[in-house]
Amino acid sequence: MNEPHIWWYVTRASSVIAWVLLTGSIVLGILLSTRVMRKVDNPAWLQDLHRFVSGLALIFVGLHLVSLMLDEFVHFSLAEILIPGATANSTVTSIQAKTIPVTLGVLALYLMIAVQATSWFMNKLPRRFWKGIHYSAYAALVLVMFHAGFSGTDVGQLWYKSLSIILIGSAAAATLIRVIVGNRTRPARREAAAVTPSGAAGGTSAKASGRTAPNELPDGTTRMRVSDVRVLAKGVLGLRLVPVAGGNLNVWRPGSHVTVYLPNGLERQYSLCSDPADRDHFDIAVLKKRGSSGGSKWIHENVMVGTELEVSLPRNHFELEPASDYIFIAGGIGITPIKAMIESLPPRRKWQLHYFGRSRTTMAFASELEAEFGDRVSVSAADERDTDPDLGALVTSTTAQVYCCGPESLMSSVAAHVPPAHMHLERFVAVERSAAEPTSVVLNLKKSRRSIVAGADESLLDALVREGLPVLGSCEKGLCGTCEVRVLEGVPEHLDSIMDDAEKDELHIMYPCVSRSQTPELTLDL
Ligand code: FES
Repeated sequence: MNEPHIWWYVTRASSVIAWVLLTGSIVLGILLSTRVMRKVDNPAWLQDLHRFVSGLALIFVGLHLVSLMLDEFVHFSLAEILIPGATANSTVTSIQAKTIPVTLGVLALYLMIAVQATSWFMNKLPRRFWKGIHYSAYAALVLVMFHAGFSGTDVGQLWYKSLSIILIGSAAAATLIRVIVGNRTRPARREAAAVTPSGAAGGTSAKASGRTAPNELPDGTTRMRVSDVRVLAKGVLGLRLVPVAGGNLNVWRPGSHVTVYLPNGLERQYSLCSDPADRDHFDIAVLKKRGSSGGSKWIHENVMVGTELEVSLPRNHFELEPASDYIFIAGGIGITPIKAMIESLPPRRKWQLHYFGRSRTTMAFASELEAEFGDRVSVSAADERDTDPDLGALVTSTTAQVYCCGPESLMSSVAAHVPPAHMHLERFVAVERSAAEPTSVVLNLKKSRRSIVAGADESLLDALVREGLPVLGSCEKGLCGTCEVRVLEGVPEHLDSIMDDAEKDELHIMYPCVSRSQTPELTLDL
């Protein structure tokens, strides 16, 4: 520190490095939100790098400020570096002359602090608020450009001019990409409504994919980190998700599923297959579907330990009702909710599992369940048997509650032998339901004190979203239950595949993504 200009060198170097890092952070953020390099990038790495570079930029800004105060030649006071415009009263003429660019730098500092601080607490902040603050990083960069262009002593140097052109050019190009491509998350969710839901055994454990409206993640969505990735069977990946912020997860019951919001904009529902008593993680199993449009395929190709994903609160439309006797029938990946059910039952409860699949190599948890529960579990692989199973013979008990999850053919065959009051189905594909010719419906919205009309050519959910009502959609096929609304008056025409119609009427609920109305008007609790 004998060099008298040391702090001046530190000031100049740290300011340039901070500018480079801030530009880099914004470029990385844009790459992350637009995913224009999706063929070669890795969103989890991009996100980590974006956060790291942003934090580092702020550290170098801090170094820049401290060195300005320590420099003996162009000495800044604490007030001058923290109070916008304070340099106007400086006794040093060269500082006073640069009041405007210095003020811009001070304002940029506060914006950077706000962006960084809200990012640390993004899980606890309303997403819209966090996003609004996050966008001010662009303003911070513009302020920094002017600050650097008008207050730096190296401005006339060739290297400084070249660097400025590179940084400004990079930021401008990235911003242009951001504007043109936009945030792909939004449109992708809307497009996803057209994704064909996959059969449980022949496809993926995802029930469906669709839209979250009004383009926000639902309340209670948690940022979770993949802490373990395991191959459970051929084409089936097991993921363990732990909350990034730590702590206990919400209580959930067997049969629940969560919606996973993927960085590519798609969203998928997966049944939870861990033990509900373990509150520090969720386990899901993802079957890679042939011809996947980006849900299971994306997970299989991109997810690794450390990947962070937004995950919804658990929902349950496949409740395990109290009973003395259960028969569980699973087909393929349909084992996932049933595994959680079995593991939650008291040891002496009477139950039997019949697990069907194409081949043992494709049947997740088969050996594990056999080893743990012995002859209560019967595994039947198509490539090991000569005849088709007699499903009717499996459900002769008159007392057992029967829970079945798997391909539609399996579920309809089982349901044909079981009284509806004892039958519980979890569907992955929508059932074809005959419906009357759609007509327009008047929706009276009690809480909002207004009425809207859903046209014959639009779903009730679309009409509600169009009018800004707080209803979320996801699968838009009447499968996931995300769009559930309470019906106060009128008779819904249930066209979903979620639970028994009588049960929905008893609960006064409907799923407006597919269901309509038997009466000209419906009054909803919205
Ligand atoms: S959006 Fe999935 S049931 Fe309506």
